[in-house]
Amino acid sequence: MLEVIHLSKIYQDRKKTVEAVRDISFQIGKGEIVGLLGVNGAGKTTTLRIIVTLLKPTTGSVFVNGYEVTKEPENVRKQIGFLTASTGLYARLTGRETLMYFGKLHSIPQHELNKRIDEAIQLFHLSEFIDRKCDKLSTGQKQRINLARTTIHQPDLLILDEPTAGLDVLGAKAIVQFIRNVKSRGQSVLFSTHRMEEAESLCDRVIIIHQGKILADSTIKQLRAESGIDELQDLFLHIIDERE
Ligand SMILES: Nc1ncnc2c1ncn2[C@@H]1O[C@H](COP(=O)(O)OP(=O)(O)O)[C@@H](O)[C@H]1O
Ligand SMILES: [Mg+2]
Repeated sequence: MLEVIHLSKIYQDRKKTVEAVRDISFQIGKGEIVGLLGVNGAGKTTTLRIIVTLLKPTTGSVFVNGYEVTKEPENVRKQIGFLTASTGLYARLTGRETLMYFGKLHSIPQHELNKRIDEAIQLFHLSEFIDRKCDKLSTGQKQRINLARTTIHQPDLLILDEPTAGLDVLGAKAIVQFIRNVKSRGQSVLFSTHRMEEAESLCDRVIIIHQGKILADSTIKQLRAESGIDELQDLFLHIIDERE
């Protein structure tokens, strides 16, 4: 499903060089939910933006369903739904128009698109506000439209960059529920977070990234067993300074 091979990214401008991602490799299989866990500046967003073809790697390669991100970006994008906490909606479009617009971008035929929009209305409980302009919606309602938008082309892989950042408890819960549903449909998810407890409640596996390097790729159960540390925060801190 997803294969990241010796990936590095160096940001360079006249004044300084930042090695944001340093030779990382990992894989995600079908139906797996994986958390990319790290503090601010660890390299999470950089990694995810390379996978979704928004950023070019410095070295290394990434394959999504066999398509390489720099060689076949269009095909890669068809496999992926990408959402970040700051993903915006067009204020003047209604929810339905938004879904239509993105469905057409993905070349979904009209009759099929109508069907999928009806399904999304059910799944994300959009019926009350689907025909209202997006700038008139609450944060939680916008978020549900955004989730529907991210999945309208039925991607095999969802990439979510800190999807719960800035949301209240209800909003965060909706995201968590959404990720669980995705798993039951056999889609894979890679999501970044700096919250260990979020990773614990959702993930089959966590990848801990720190200063651009992967320090652990394992289940939380396994990490606990190896370290003898039960408390999540302590476990995380132990992993990031033990290997610094
Ligand atoms: N466009 C950029 N130009 C220069 N440095 C950047 C850029 N984007 C991110 N960085 C740096 O790369 C490192 C990793 O950033 P990022 O991938 O955003 O981390 P995270 O998402 O884990 O917080 C940080 O040191 C950050 O300052
Ligand atoms: Mg980030």
